Amino acid sequence: MKKKLGLNKKKFFPVSMPDVTRKDIIAVNKALKAGWISSEGPEVKKFEKNFSKYIGHKYAVAVSSGTAALEVAVKSLNLKKGDEIIVPNFTIISNALASIKQNLKIKLVDCGKFDWNMDISQIKKNISKKTKAIIATHIYNFPLRIDLLKKICKKKKIIIIEDAAEALGQKLNKKLCGSYGDISTFSFYANKQITTGEGGMITTNNKKLYEKSSSLRNLSFGKKDRFNHDDIAWNYRMTNIQASLGISQLKRINQIVRTKQKIGLEYYKRLKNNSNLYIPKIKTKYAKNIYWVVAILILNKKLKIDAKKMMNKLKNEGIATRPFFWPMNKQKILKKYNISKNASFPNSNYICKYGLYLPSSLKLKTSEINFICSKINKILKK
Ligand SMILES: Cc1ncc(COP(=O)(O)O)c(C=O)c1O
Repeated sequence: MKKKLGLNKKKFFPVSMPDVTRKDIIAVNKALKAGWISSEGPEVKKFEKNFSKYIGHKYAVAVSSGTAALEVAVKSLNLKKGDEIIVPNFTIISNALASIKQNLKIKLVDCGKFDWNMDISQIKKNISKKTKAIIATHIYNFPLRIDLLKKICKKKKIIIIEDAAEALGQKLNKKLCGSYGDISTFSFYANKQITTGEGGMITTNNKKLYEKSSSLRNLSFGKKDRFNHDDIAWNYRMTNIQASLGISQLKRINQIVRTKQKIGLEYYKRLKNNSNLYIPKIKTKYAKNIYWVVAILILNKKLKIDAKKMMNKLKNEGIATRPFFWPMNKQKILKKYNISKNASFPNSNYICKYGLYLPSSLKLKTSEINFICSKINKILKK
């Protein structure tokens, strides 16, 4: 009987849950009823306009994912085969794939052990006369010091593609992430600050890059004769339905960021004194952590608990987690490109084995965070 009523059911904590409100649903319904269901229609243009205004870039191009945004952005630079591009070693594979697909020579840079972004001193060492671009990706929590990077790149005329997929609403020195790049990319996958189901955006102040990106996401239809195409391009268009959801979600970005910060703070308070793990703090001199994900790193190897073991133990308690990225130097499909030759990546290797991230849905209650942290502290005894 108890079972029938679900009373024995353990509570399950997903890693993230999209936050779709009544207003979002009304907005999507309106777009559907208006009959604009493909990428034609007013909402895509409106979303681009609202988004570029929010970021502080002149132009925006809506696309079908953050991966698509990266592919289009890299191709829009019109680099030559063999030109060098600096790419983070610890990131989503989309950064490397966008570069490989344009036949660029990738130079990988390791991250910090506690700041999981690219190590700026390593970036400097990897710059050569052939370096034409860098994919500057913000990873998990604190932003990459792209303000420092900009100074270096300006001198050397290196183009910055800022991958702000994880960092919408995150500020670096009071300026939004995504506003620093020569060209910037974003993702609206369901686990991001705002979602369109799947989706992405490119922003820039550069008219030429904007025009090229707009063309590339839309099969580069011929300017003179429509079906005589101008380039090898993609159909990476965003639909009007998705854009209507994006517009509605973007309206409450500040509120979403505040909620994420609150969740991060509750976790931080409960885990910061556990010396067997590391959790990023709530702020540094240059940024407030908006905790896109609440990530932790296991520090004490003697406990013989790596991320995989920890994830299984938490799963048994109904707590879903995700492992950290699998770094580029360890990707089997990238071996043949020799991109990690003669370089070592000790920090990426460590954090991919010992890092994981925790439930951080916007609706998570403090009592639930308390429960999750008590389990973590018990497994990784203080
Ligand atoms: C840093 C970064 N860049 C790009 C992407 C790709 O975005 P999408 O999943 O929309 O293709 C992700 C995905 O989470 C990401 O974390």
